[in-house]
Amino acid sequence: MHAIYQYQEFFVDYLEKQTISKEPKNLYEPIEYIVSLGGKRMRPVLTLMSSEVFDVSYNEALPAAMAVEIFHNFSLVHDDIMDDAPLRRGQKTVHEKWDLNTGILSGDAMLILAYQYFEQYEPNTFRELAKLFSKTALEVCEGQQWDVDFEQRNDVTIPEYLKMIEYKTAVLVAAAMKMGAIVAKTSEENANLIYDFGLQLGLAFQLQDDYLDAFGDPETFGKQVGGDIIENKKTYLYLKALAYSDDEKAKQLKELFTTQPEDSTDKVEIVKGIFNNSGASKETKDAIEMYTLEAFKTLDKMDISDEKKLSLRTFGENLMGRKV
Ligand code: IPE
Ligand code: IPE
Ligand code: MG
Ligand code: MG
Ligand code: MG
Repeated sequence: MHAIYQYQEFFVDYLEKQTISKEPKNLYEPIEYIVSLGGKRMRPVLTLMSSEVFDVSYNEALPAAMAVEIFHNFSLVHDDIMDDAPLRRGQKTVHEKWDLNTGILSGDAMLILAYQYFEQYEPNTFRELAKLFSKTALEVCEGQQWDVDFEQRNDVTIPEYLKMIEYKTAVLVAAAMKMGAIVAKTSEENANLIYDFGLQLGLAFQLQDDYLDAFGDPETFGKQVGGDIIENKKTYLYLKALAYSDDEKAKQLKELFTTQPEDSTDKVEIVKGIFNNSGASKETKDAIEMYTLEAFKTLDKMDISDEKKLSLRTFGENLMGRKV
């Protein structure tokens, strides 16, 4: 196995060799823009690591890793439209820099570009990758729809929230790992275990994304801090704050989450205060750790060397300490 930063470099080197831009430039420039803005590259790194966990060189997994990263970037372009988000990776979102129609069509093209990367595999692997990818992509759409539906609801439950984040986020992290396993042609059992590892890690990851959305440092976070509060997102922080507040505070919070004021500064500050004082912030941090530890338990069930387990564990631990 290589170090995590090396997988990142391998992936970025490969990415930089791809030629995305051509005519019409209003279709391809936004794609080049969002993909080149960076990001953590966590999903492709997991695909590369997973193929090496199962003893096949990361080189074989590069096209699959690229498919996952392009799909992820596509989902961000459309997600930013749906969430009315101004900032992504510290820069303007595609629909802000260009316009809504550009975001829609460039996003569509990215989904297709992602699929094209599977064409580099022989028929059996191609079929397995495409099958997993289609199932996953549809689940992401389902998760995204729930996320949006929940904005208008005030009776969302914790199990509903967990299902929503499993679909919108965790299944893609899980699939990124299973793709490495498919490329490596390992056993079905191994492929499913690494999927489960990715799923638990993905849940922890989205819980932390929610936490950082409220409490991240605006200087480094790269997205609009407080965006979820502005959009009335029913996050874990919100649901736990409701559960832990007395009737009066709960009523105040519920009411705040039916409004979308022109200037949201006060709303964001009041809600963050309730998240902290109710104990919801601490509960969210605990849940992040709990799901990360669940992922590590799955790792223990796997028949791979301790060195490989340690690599994946380190990845999970780094993720827990992230600020972006
Ligand atoms: C953002 O994903 C979308 C979520 C599922 C939370 P990342 O936090 O991985 O975004 P980048 O790629 O690093 O920018
Ligand atoms: C994003 O969830 C999930 C997908 C893009 C599918 P969020 O809406 O929380 O992601 P960010 O916070 O905008 O990155
Ligand atoms: Mg969003
Ligand atoms: Mg969203
Ligand atoms: Mg978020």
